Parts: sequence; structure tokens; C-alpha cells
Amino acid sequence: MQAPVIAPSILSADFARLGEEVDRVLAAGADWVHFDVMDNHYVPNLTIGPLVCEALRRHGVTAPIDVHLMVEPVDRLVPDFAKAGATLISFHPEASRHVHRTIQLIRGEGCQAGLVLNPATPLDVLDHVLEDLDLVLLMSVNPGFGGQAFIPSALDKLRGVRERIDATGRPIRLEIDGGVKPDNVGAIAAAGADTFVAGSAIFGQPDYAQVISAMRAAIDA
Ligand code: DX5
Ligand code: ZN
Repeated sequence: MQAPVIAPSILSADFARLGEEVDRVLAAGADWVHFDVMDNHYVPNLTIGPLVCEALRRHGVTAPIDVHLMVEPVDRLVPDFAKAGATLISFHPEASRHVHRTIQLIRGEGCQAGLVLNPATPLDVLDHVLEDLDLVLLMSVNPGFGGQAFIPSALDKLRGVRERIDATGRPIRLEIDGGVKPDNVGAIAAAGADTFVAGSAIFGQPDYAQVISAMRAAIDA
């Protein structure tokens, strides 16, 4: 298993002060910035796009930016996010007509590629493409909103994905997204996740460093 990564979702940050918020959360010990892109089509919510990603890079953010695309179609946004400074781009297979082609497109643009599984998406979407991925992102809520409760069946699903990843022998990350908090992250890590998105749990508290260190302690326990 790879070193744990904590990726705060800026969906729950104060967008009026986004640069400062990202600086603060990285100074508090976060590893990546999780960047949720919603289009009011694939999901019933509308958020931020490549312009904001580029603005964070221009602001001086050097940490990996983990772009989670909840958009349909996917492909035409990929080059824009690559140019805007995305490190990793993940997408939902239901939103792309040609999943393998989208993975190739992301990698061809020089980014790492991730595939996202919704709570009801079966693991067999990983057949034939797992070896081409850098990350599998497992949703533990339905995509579209921050602040929802963790769906417990995600734990079993994590174990299933972990087995498949280990069988490849490749360093593919297993990321969990939705309802992650200090009090459930230990069980989530034990089920096989190594990359942890948390939005409301971090940005909803005044002391980001305290939440992040509580999460790390639970992951390492
Ligand atoms: C939901 C997003 C998540 C969300 C997580 O569609 O993909 O990244 O912001 O928020 P919390 O941690 O509050 O569930
Ligand atoms: Zn997300």
C-alpha cells in the first residue's frame, strides 16, 4: 500500500477566499487539492472549471490538483484542465462513450488518469482498463453535493477494488470520496483506501490542522 494521501475537497471551502483557503489547508498538512467539477447535467449542481484551476496555479499552488470531473461529455474538458495545471483527472464511465479513449486522452495530455465508481456502479467497469489507470475513485455518496452521509456498503466495495488493484501489482491509488471524517477514516483505511477526500469534515471546522492530524492518526492506527 502507498503512503496515505489526504485530499481536501474545496467544494466546502469559502469560494470568496479560495486562494487563501487552499494555502491554509495545505499549510495544515493536506497533500493534494481535490477539485470537484459539476456541470448541472451529469449531476444536479454547478461548480468550477478550468479557469479556477488555472487561477490556483497562478496564485502559487504547487501541490497536486486532483480534478474530479462530474460532467458529460468528458473529453472536450480534458485538454482545458491539462493546460490549467491539473495533475490528475478522474471521470465517471457513464459520462464517456469511450472509456478507454478518454483514459488515453488524459494520459496523452500529460496527466494521471482516474476512473470513478458511483455507489451503484459495479466493479466490472474496471475490467480491461484497470492496468491503464493511475487511480480508482470510489464514491461513498452519490455525486453532486458535499456534506452527505457515508454509505456503509462502500467498505465492502473498497475491499473488492483493493483485491483487484493488488492483483495487478501496479501502484494504482484507491481514493474514497464522500462522508469521510476522522471517526470513520480508520475503517475506510482498513478496507483498503490509501487516498482520502474530505470536504465538510475539514472546511467545516475552524482548525484544519487538527482535523487533518486526527485523520492521519486514525489512518495509521
Ligand atoms: C461529491 C464530491 C465530494 C464532496 C465531498 O460529489 O465529489 O468530493 O465534496 O464532500 P464531503 O466530504 O463533505 O462528503
Ligand atoms: Zn469529489
